[in-house]
This record gives sequence, structure tokens and C-alpha cells, in this order.
Amino acid sequence: MSSEKDDLRRIRALSAQLHQHNFRYYILDDPQISDAEYDRLLDDLQALEQRYPDAVHADSPTQKVGAQWGPEDFIADRLPPVQHGVPMLSLENAMGTDAVLQWVERVRRGLELQDEDANPPLTVEYKFDGVAVSILYEDGILVRAATRGDGLVGEEVTGNVRTIRSVPQQLTDKNPPACVELRGEAILLHADFDAMNRSRSAEEGLFANPRNAAAGSLRQLDPRISAKRPLDVFIYGVGDQQGIDLSSQQQLVDRLPGWGFLASPFLRSVDNSEQLLEIYQEVLESREQLPFDIDGLVIKVEGVELREQLGMRARSPRWAIALKFPPRQETTRLLEIQVQVGRTGALTPVAHLEPVEVGGVTVSRAGLHNPQEIERKGLMIGDQVVVQRAGDVIPQVVKSIESLRDGSEKEFHFPDKCPACSEPIWCPEGEVIPHCQNLQCPAQIRGRIEHFASRRALDIDGLGEKLIDQLVSEGLVKTPSDLYRLELDEVAALERMAQKSAENLVAALEQTKQRSFSRLLHALGIRHVGERVAELIVDSQRDIDTLMAASSETLEQIDEIGPAIAASVADFFSRDSVRQELEVLRAAGLKMKADGPPAGETRAGPLSGLTVVITGTLPNLSRGQAKALVLAAGGKVTGSISKSTDLLLAGDKAGSKLEKANKLEVEVIDEAEFQRRIDETTTT
Ligand code: IVH
Repeated sequence: MSSEKDDLRRIRALSAQLHQHNFRYYILDDPQISDAEYDRLLDDLQALEQRYPDAVHADSPTQKVGAQWGPEDFIADRLPPVQHGVPMLSLENAMGTDAVLQWVERVRRGLELQDEDANPPLTVEYKFDGVAVSILYEDGILVRAATRGDGLVGEEVTGNVRTIRSVPQQLTDKNPPACVELRGEAILLHADFDAMNRSRSAEEGLFANPRNAAAGSLRQLDPRISAKRPLDVFIYGVGDQQGIDLSSQQQLVDRLPGWGFLASPFLRSVDNSEQLLEIYQEVLESREQLPFDIDGLVIKVEGVELREQLGMRARSPRWAIALKFPPRQETTRLLEIQVQVGRTGALTPVAHLEPVEVGGVTVSRAGLHNPQEIERKGLMIGDQVVVQRAGDVIPQVVKSIESLRDGSEKEFHFPDKCPACSEPIWCPEGEVIPHCQNLQCPAQIRGRIEHFASRRALDIDGLGEKLIDQLVSEGLVKTPSDLYRLELDEVAALERMAQKSAENLVAALEQTKQRSFSRLLHALGIRHVGERVAELIVDSQRDIDTLMAASSETLEQIDEIGPAIAASVADFFSRDSVRQELEVLRAAGLKMKADGPPAGETRAGPLSGLTVVITGTLPNLSRGQAKALVLAAGGKVTGSISKSTDLLLAGDKAGSKLEKANKLEVEVIDEAEFQRRIDETTTT
């Protein structure tokens, strides 16, 4: 027969478990138990709550009657405050090893260690550079998580912490303690930080460093967003604890892996100052190799009794100290900004800096990403700038220090011509990285030829990276069309080139003359033009002369081709360098005409010859259905409104397309009118 105390405990545990399962089901879309198991837990809770009506909490999972759970149950409009039962203290900082040795002395005095040789027992661990989090487990079940806040009151981040892979929802322990509050640091591994930044759009901006990214992720209001941010947690301390006695750092660290946490990556016991200094030196030198950021070491007196004996200062304990590493941010002069042309024609600015040592590595260059970044950071040539090395090894310019300007600084103007070939650069609205679209640009030639020859483009057998390198460095190939000027003898004369391979290459080039026009179009490497887009363009424009004459408005009429693609194609073909190149390719005999009839010949029907745009939510038809009806009625569907749009079929929340249609005086109809038109004409 279970005691009332046990029953009440079980009520709490079941509620927490059910909340956890609701969260996994409704937020993460990743349930961990079957519906039947869930129902069993809910039945158990209901039965217990019937026996103890006073124990029914308003927030109990049994209290949401008749309604489904949904994301709104887990997304707060603010992060609620959490009072820390045991304050989350901060650490005194020692800015160098001398200060640590003085601290050791103070500890010795505090512990009244008279004997010269008696040393306090100390542990050394990493000082993780992330954001502190406190995670409360009751009966082994995660019930609440909070940030540090001001140390006394933090913010509740339970939902977000539930999404962290290295935080167990339940301690894997047959006899879990009644209560244990585990404290640690939420961090982002460098690899995850880099991947996160790679997937950020220009508007979202990049995270400056893993710590900022971790803090932002932990404090998200919507846990579905934090679920996409791969945080990890390293535990380094205990807050409240009942039913367990973790009285030393070693005891805590030993327990963690068994409970399902990450093992502590570094914990050493030391019993003299020399050892401490050795460890400092060792970690300082090896920290660059760690997969996460640390900003120092934390040295703690081992054992709860000694800690109690030493006591506290206002906000930090006397029994611990942080030994910080020299900063990974430094100030230096911005000497120049150079614009580099990548293999795909992307123009990216790079800062050249007066060499400076940052966190043990000399930095003389830093990526600046795009022109907007330079503007946002207000950089001028000659400025004193703050440089940092974040998680990755690529250094960044954080900001310029305006107060240190002396008037000699010069504004930086992003070039309007490609620095490698002097062609005008191209950066349409909505894009942040300017590009050079010159087929003859020397900076891009290797990349362009590689793409030109690739399997899905013109598939030039035998023309791999090494041979391209040779051809380019020998000066035989400066543009794609030069490939067709190659003489067998020239190729055969290349170093390590057998006669047979040279013959094969020439034959492979000959075969490219049989490839379709759309493959050639893809092979040209026009920005935004992949295989599919090339096919769509060829299907509608049919031959190179029509295509070269097409404006971006005309190209936008093509189904599935939006303004960015249309602008890119029009810009590309407007260039003399491109036209010259195409003439040579045409003379060489490459196909520049569509092979068969167009894929979507217009049908006769009520909408025959009409171009229709569909927007908003239609009451009865899906977009796909509406599109099929337009096509069946002989019309054409395009993605955006232009002067040649005949009809806009608009549903609810039509937005900017409706505005544009009104401006261009395009006829707008609703679904009922649309149905009437197709029916009317089909019945007459
Ligand atoms: S112990 C009473 N250990 O550093 C001791 N803190 O500046 C409280 N931190 O807020 C903390 N690694 O977020 C401790 N191994 C470690 C740590 C660590 C990082 C952070 C923690 C704390 C801050 C204090």
C-alpha cells in the first residue's frame, strides 16, 4: 500500500511526464511513446487525482478538457520569472596566474592551513563560454529549466531546454533523487555554430559568436525555433538537492554520464600551485583544438565542508575562481578592403589588417561577407577596428572604433566593376552579394570550365580539375569557347598527357555539339539558371537569338520564372563579352535551338492565349487545382504580374500581387467569376 506522500509524488511525476510527451508531440512532432502508452499515463494520473482532489493542479495535463494541445500551449508571450531556491552565483575573475596564486593563498588562510606544505584540495575545469542554465529534476523527471537572470530570479526556458539533445528528459536512474537541480552551461559546438550561420539568410544576419547564438537560442519564446538550434549542455554544478548528497565536484561529474548527460570534458584534481600553472599553460595552448569555446578555467575548492568553511562574498563564493584566458578580441588597423572574385563570380570584400595576435594566432585578414556588412559596421580604411576569432577559425571584424579616428581615414566604395576583368558587376534588388557575370573573367575561368564540362552540363569526358588547371595555366584556355579552338597537338604536348587522352578529349568536345540547347544554357553558368530553369527558358524562347533579345519582363512571363532569374538572364545576355563568346560557340557548332516542339502547346479553350496569375487563398480550389483548370481552358499560368498578364485570379490575403495588378490595370477576378468564365464558354 503506497503512502499518501508517494502518491502525491507520483501525481507530480506523471504530470511532468505528460507535459513532456505533449511537448514532444505538439512542438517537436516527434513523440517518444505510443498513443496507448500516453493514454495509460493519463488514466493513471486521473485515477490518482480522483483520490486526492486537493492535489489537482490547474496546470495538470488532465485539466485541458475537450481541447487539443497545440503550439500555443508551449509558446509564451514572454519568459516567466523563476525564483532560484539556491542563488546562481557568479565567479570572481582572476586576470592572470598571479591573481590565482594569491587566491590560493587566501584559501589557505581561510581554511587555516598552517603547515607550509598543506595545500587545499582543488579541482580545475573548463570555463565554458556559453550561457548558464539550471535544470530541475523531480523524481528524475525534468520539470523546469531557467536562465541565471540576476542570480536570484531567472527566466523560465523549460520548453527550449527540452529540445536540447544532451539534456535527458528523465534521469536514467532506477532510484532517482527526489529533487536535484543541475547547473551548467548551454553552448554551441563550433561545427553546429558554423552550420547555423551558413543557413542564415542575409536579412537574418550572422551570429557573431557561439555564445551569442546560444544565448539567443535559449531565450527563444517559440521552442520550435530553439529546436532547430543544436545546443548542448555541460553540467558543472548543483543547486537544490534532496534525497541525494553530491558533496564534491568529482561526485557530481561521476554521476552525469549515468544520468544521460554529456561527460564532463575536463576535470583535474590539483594539490599544488605548480600543477595549476602547468594545466593553465596546457589548456591555453590546446584550446584552439577544442570543438567548443572556453574562455578560461574554473578552479574550485573540493568538498562541501571546506566550501562552507570559506563561505561567500556578495555574489560569488570564496571557494571558486575563474582564471580567464587572454581575450580573443583585439584592436588593430584596417589597412585596406580588397574585393575578391570567387569561382562562381561572387564578389566578396576581405579586410586586410595590420597583423595582430588574437587568442594565440596572428590575424592579418578577415572576411567581410558583403557590402552591406561594411556599411553596417561603419568601416573606414585606416580605422582602428576590433577583431575577434569566434568559434570558427575565420577571424571577423566586429566594429570600428570611431573615437580613435584622426581624420585621415578614407571611405570605402564598393567597386562597380569586377576587380578581375573590369566588367560592370551585377547585384539585383533583394540580393546582397554582387556578382560578375562575365564568361571571360579570368578569376572565374577554372570554376566556369569545371561547370561547363560537368556531367549534367555538357558532360565533357576526361576534362577534369587537373587538366583544366593545366589548360588554364598554360594559357590555352581563357574562356569556355577556347576549348573548341584547342588543337590535338597542343593538348598532346601538355605535360603527362598521352596522345590517346588528347584524342579522347578532342572527341569528347566534338560530342558536346550533339547536346541539347538547354544543356548548353545550363553549362554557361548563368546565376540562378540550373537544369530545370534552362529547360523552361529553352521551351519558351526556342533559340538563342530570341533569347538574347528577350527583356527581363518577357522572361518573367515564363511559368515558374520569377523576377530574380529573369533579371539575371537578361543581364547575362546583355553583355558584349557574353555575346562574343556565344558567337564563337555558335561557329563551333554547338546547338542553340530547341530540339522538339514546345512542351506546352496552347490549347483551344475559354482562356486560350490568356496569361493568368493566381494569388491568395481561394475558397474552394487549391492553387494546383486552379492552375490545372487554367491550363485545361487553354490559358497560361505565370508567377508574377506584369503588363502582359491578362487576368489575376485572387483569393483571400492576395497582398502585393493584387496591388500590382490594380496599378497595371490587370483585370482581377475571384474564384466564382473564374468558374463562371470557364463554365460559360465551355457550355456555349
Ligand atoms: S561554477 C558558484 N563552473 O561562468 C559557482 N561556472 O562567471 C558558479 N561557467 O554563470 C559557477 N563554466 O555560467 C562554474 N565550469 C564552470 C563554468 C562556469 C562556465 C560560467 C557560469 C557562470 C559564469 C560565472
